[in-house]
Amino acid sequence: MGHQFSMAEISKADAARALLRWYAEMGVDETIGRTPADFFAWEPPRAQASAAPPYSRPAPATRTASDRPATGVFASDTALLSADEAVAKAKTIAAACTSFEALGEAVAAFDGCPLKQSAMNTVFADGVPGSDLLIIGEAPGREEDRVGKPFVGRAGQLLDRMLASIGRSREKDTLISNVIYWRPPGNRTPTQLEIAACRPFVDRLIELTAPKAVMLAGGVSTQALLGVSGIMRSRGVWREIETATGARFPALPVFHPAFLLRQPGQKRFAWADLLTLEARLRDG
Ligand code: URA
Repeated sequence: MGHQFSMAEISKADAARALLRWYAEMGVDETIGRTPADFFAWEPPRAQASAAPPYSRPAPATRTASDRPATGVFASDTALLSADEAVAKAKTIAAACTSFEALGEAVAAFDGCPLKQSAMNTVFADGVPGSDLLIIGEAPGREEDRVGKPFVGRAGQLLDRMLASIGRSREKDTLISNVIYWRPPGNRTPTQLEIAACRPFVDRLIELTAPKAVMLAGGVSTQALLGVSGIMRSRGVWREIETATGARFPALPVFHPAFLLRQPGQKRFAWADLLTLEARLRDG
């Protein structure tokens, strides 16, 4: 005869199930470590940073879920560079890239952004290199991390429909990327340091693509590349992105498709912005 559960055991199991359900509803969709990660404490002590040979730790370029490190703490055990050193290194590497392919390889090999340690894949870009339309979103989510391509989840499917509404697609005439190339755990918003470490590659991608227009999907990429906060006010207004070399490109902030999935009533504004974008691409 099997074990008879007492009322106390049953209520413990119910409590555990309720806790799991609560975690899932709060967006916790995977476990990545036994100890909590302090993502604000990225900068390692100076002595440690200079003692360690830069980039000596092999980069986990692509891995499966079972290859992941047992801990999500980056500050003490994996980051060999300070934030300033990581940005400087990224600038040097990005500036040396003269093609889209070289840039993609450089991003995949870059170890200066601690998010890489918890990600399954580097998510660089998808679409047609050199397109006259470049879309820049926030960061890979769970599906993007799994597949290794930007905007392939539900928000990405809506983005594809938005593009189709102005006769465009990633297969034909559009390039899609993000301001961050690795998934932030639990899909949290990327930190300023993480954005800063990736920024030289984002700038270089814009320069190598030389698009007629950059569509900034959502508030995070708008803030990161234009320094403008408040997507509700900034959407639909043309501004210019200035890259590290001083090159300037027209950029249009548009609501993020994930936001539109949550607030379908805002789609009319996105539709208006897409028409603005299409007119600019058509007319030059
Ligand atoms: N949201 C983004 O901003 N980028 C992606 O790649 C996926 C979802």
